[in-house]
Amino acid sequence: MPETGAIVVESFGGPDKLRWVQRQLPEPGPAEVLVRHTAVGLNFIDTYHRSGLYPLELPAGLGTEAAGVVEAVGAAVGGLAPGDRVAYVCLPPGAYAERRVLPVDRLVKLPEAIGDEVAAAAMLKGLTAWYLLHRSYRLQAGDPVLVHAAAGGVGLILCQWARALGARVIGVVGTPEKGELARRHGCDETVLSSDPDLVSRVRDLSGGGVAAVYDSVGQATFFQSLDCLRRHGTMVTYGNASGPVEPFSPMELARRGSLFLTRPVLFDFIATPESLADASGALFAALAAGHTSIAIHQRWPLRQAATAHRELEARRTVGASVLLP
Ligand SMILES: NC(=O)c1ccc[n+]([C@@H]2O[C@H](COP(=O)([O-])OP(=O)(O)OC[C@H]3O[C@@H](n4cnc5c(N)ncnc54)[C@H](OP(=O)(O)O)[C@@H]3O)[C@@H](O)[C@H]2O)c1
Repeated sequence: MPETGAIVVESFGGPDKLRWVQRQLPEPGPAEVLVRHTAVGLNFIDTYHRSGLYPLELPAGLGTEAAGVVEAVGAAVGGLAPGDRVAYVCLPPGAYAERRVLPVDRLVKLPEAIGDEVAAAAMLKGLTAWYLLHRSYRLQAGDPVLVHAAAGGVGLILCQWARALGARVIGVVGTPEKGELARRHGCDETVLSSDPDLVSRVRDLSGGGVAAVYDSVGQATFFQSLDCLRRHGTMVTYGNASGPVEPFSPMELARRGSLFLTRPVLFDFIATPESLADASGALFAALAAGHTSIAIHQRWPLRQAATAHRELEARRTVGASVLLP
């Protein structure tokens, strides 16, 4: 029977709740594949699973995206064989592990040009950038848009891609250094999140308000983001880095100019094997064409996932990070 080392959470809380355990894995079932991970993506959602903001049945694994090599396949699996390079994003969490048994219909075979670390960072963050720009709000060339956490994991991928689609991209960042990085990755302009005049600056830079806001910060920025939109603008609130948005009256949308609001989740855009293939095909094509790119800015050994969580939550990371088994 295959074995793996893995990070588990036995009770919700801070990074100190992460435990390294050794356990046995089942042989893959008929439609399953045993994958040896080569790189695991670090994501903010992992901190929500760890803290209990997104509750899991405990004990639970952590991590939703990874890349690796197929070690064994179930009897009914076609199209994949031992030695193939694959990547995935899926629930329930469990990617913080050396090996894992996965359903074959969640795996994407990797093109040669996409390295393992990039793939491990691309499946959640890159596919999120894809649906935000092509589904949640269908970006048009010339649209001014506002991107929060522009120098973050999703942020850098999103800003480059939005720029390639012809948008005028205004990024919100925590520090001047992050602003510089974001401007090298697709932002036409950046504003500091601490700027007391953020709303008027964004309205000036966009000629009266942006067409869409991509807001992953949540509670702390929600109403400020609505104030940055032009009439009929679209608010895409897709994360909770500062905490979840509190309940509010729909009149808040009416009095700011008949705004649209969506609160999307990646998994609804890749729920079927066909939609996953379409989305990952579009992402790999965008990477190959240079419309966006993914660089790994931080690496930690998988066993040091707690350190990685501390750095991510303290806003000390930029771009994508991976954990290495
Ligand atoms: N709904 C979906 O489908 C989906 C999918 C993927 C990711 N997400 C969301 O997208 C966001 C970005 O994820 P990521 O993994 O790429 O993380 P990230 O953007 O690399 O890290 C979070 C960033 O948010 C900013 N931030 C602002 N206020 C913060 C606060 N109070 N605490 C911590 N950070 C704060 C920080 O940037 P500054 O220092 O520059 O402010 C920080 O670096 C997360 O909220 C995640 O949940 C949602």
